[in-house]
Amino acid sequence: MATLIDGKKVAEEVLAECAQEIAELKEQGITPGLAVVLVGEDPASQVYVNSKARKCAELGIHSEKIVLSKEATQAEVLETVKRLNTDPAIHGILVQSPPPPQINEEEIVRAIDPAKDVDGFHPENVAKLALEDASGFVPCTPAGCMRLIKAAGVETSGAEAVVVGRSMIVGKPMALLLMARGSDATVTVAHSRTRDLAEVCRRADILVAAVGIPEFIRADFVKKGATVIDVGINRVEDATAKRGYRLCGDVAYDEVAEKAGSITPVPGGVGPMTIAMLMKNTIKAARAAKA
Ligand code: GUN
Repeated sequence: MATLIDGKKVAEEVLAECAQEIAELKEQGITPGLAVVLVGEDPASQVYVNSKARKCAELGIHSEKIVLSKEATQAEVLETVKRLNTDPAIHGILVQSPPPPQINEEEIVRAIDPAKDVDGFHPENVAKLALEDASGFVPCTPAGCMRLIKAAGVETSGAEAVVVGRSMIVGKPMALLLMARGSDATVTVAHSRTRDLAEVCRRADILVAAVGIPEFIRADFVKKGATVIDVGINRVEDATAKRGYRLCGDVAYDEVAEKAGSITPVPGGVGPMTIAMLMKNTIKAARAAKA
């Protein structure tokens, strides 16, 4: 049976580091500030945005939640970003993804000051990640996955890592982090067009699932003893659940846990880490702004 990788516990450790760093910044008269912009009413996005704001409040990070209607125009969202770019109380800006269809997300991301891009989605920060330039911002979810892998004591150097999914939010940055000097894994990026996907996945000492399909990764995708990181947060209908749905990952947890060496649960795995790393990035932005 696999060892559980406890994301809540590791996130608490990261948040304790954050509390210390915030106290030091406040002694210098700096309060880190994060603006979270939500366009529209996507229920999952509302949950994420509220939990980000709550975590800021707990830590003593100044936060602003800006909610624009689901009919908001591109110009309105751009205007909001530009105002936040010049607001000295705001060190980090996050526009929750995905926005409604009339919004061109790429243009919004490019409008964010790269020094405030705590999501790490701006092309300048994407380039810095590829260049292994530590001054950039690393996207929060893959940064959290790396921290979980390290916390689990998993050797990445020379390991075979397979990332399933090639998104800009998770798959691509995750692959870059795993192959970077210091991590030194041998990385395969698999996706919906990959031939013999199960066979490719079975090569993995470290398997990262970021496909957004409930329980897509089955036991026959997993090598015995592998480390399995489940990035999926899927809502699946469940009449017996209070809300009418339950959360499940991209990994068929029960059967994979019997084969894996270690595994992250959903919820309580990658999810809490994403928020913790966002707090880290906000502190990093505040510290850099002071310099
Ligand atoms: N939607 C899902 N994950 C993320 C994230 O890390 N940042 C933003 N802005 N939107 C998301």
